[in-house]
Amino acid sequence: MAKDIAQQIVPNDELDDLIDGLKQPEKMISPKYFYDERGSQLFEEITRLPEYYPTETELGIMRDNIDEIASLVGKQASLIEFGSGSSLKTRVLLEHLDELAAYVPVDISEDHLLESARQIGEEFPDLDILPVVADFTQPFQLPSPKVMPLRNIVYFPGSTIGNFTNEAARELLQVMYQEAGAGGALLIGVDLQKDPAIIERAYNDSAGVTAEFNRNMLRHLNREFGGDFDLDAFAHSAKYNEREGRVEIRLVSEQDQEFSLSHASFSIEKDEAILTEYSHKYTLEGFAAMAETAGLRVKKVWMDTERLFSVQYLVRD
Ligand code: SAH
Ligand code: AVI
Repeated sequence: MAKDIAQQIVPNDELDDLIDGLKQPEKMISPKYFYDERGSQLFEEITRLPEYYPTETELGIMRDNIDEIASLVGKQASLIEFGSGSSLKTRVLLEHLDELAAYVPVDISEDHLLESARQIGEEFPDLDILPVVADFTQPFQLPSPKVMPLRNIVYFPGSTIGNFTNEAARELLQVMYQEAGAGGALLIGVDLQKDPAIIERAYNDSAGVTAEFNRNMLRHLNREFGGDFDLDAFAHSAKYNEREGRVEIRLVSEQDQEFSLSHASFSIEKDEAILTEYSHKYTLEGFAAMAETAGLRVKKVWMDTERLFSVQYLVRD
């Protein structure tokens, strides 16, 4: 684990953190609480929606450029994936990387991670697969592969980086910089700024899956943290904030109501919202500047022809 960075992150109690977020001037819940088993399934459904361009676009970029990506990665690397989910795009890498030393998927959604790792084990029987259930914003221990890797490649697809504030994203990039170690690199999916209508459509799908994904967070908190949220009394909202370059996702209270989480009680007014997620969209320059502050240099950027999405290869200088 990245010791010097890890020690700067103060371990916290999840319930205290949640209560603290709900006491802020704008109530908020971290997006990591989207991902219980049902949340992970709903996210997979989102990735198949016609409006949700990131997954299909990123997969296309990976497929179109895999030879170049594989030659940059080189042989006998260890592939460490942050927020691996169902490892859809990872399969392109696993099929093409040369003599991979190990695959280390890291995710907070335990059952989903273990089932994905099991499936990958069936598809790639010779691969050393070492799943890690962890919150990657907190210190965690990485396992040691059987074969000594020549280098570490930290893979962070999906533009999950965009779900963090710029300050938290910079900290996370620093953790990844440490994980990559000397000679290592990061391969990261970064969603780009574009026509706001395309972005807003992706987060307001006509089938209502994103709304269900958003509300499911409350179901998760009811079950795991002694909550009593009335799911039907909250409406999904996702709006693109052009000034900040981010989608802001909220649950808006449809009435004056009370709710509690374990021992803590809260009141919320009609039309007052709980912020559940940011999804930042970047310019190439903006992302490169942020990466630079974490000690990383953008060596290569691949994009689709419409420049909707990018996959970037970052190295330590
Ligand atoms: N990489 C996949 C999934 C993206 S969804 C893709 O590109 O499609 C985001 C993933 O990150 C989910 O699987 C979720 O469980 C995981 N995740 C979110 N916050 C996390 C955290 N703090 N620690 C570990 N995993 C997290
Ligand atoms: C995981 N993450 C990159 C998704 C996103 O697009 O920000 C989560 C998501 N939220 C709503 N739809 C998808």
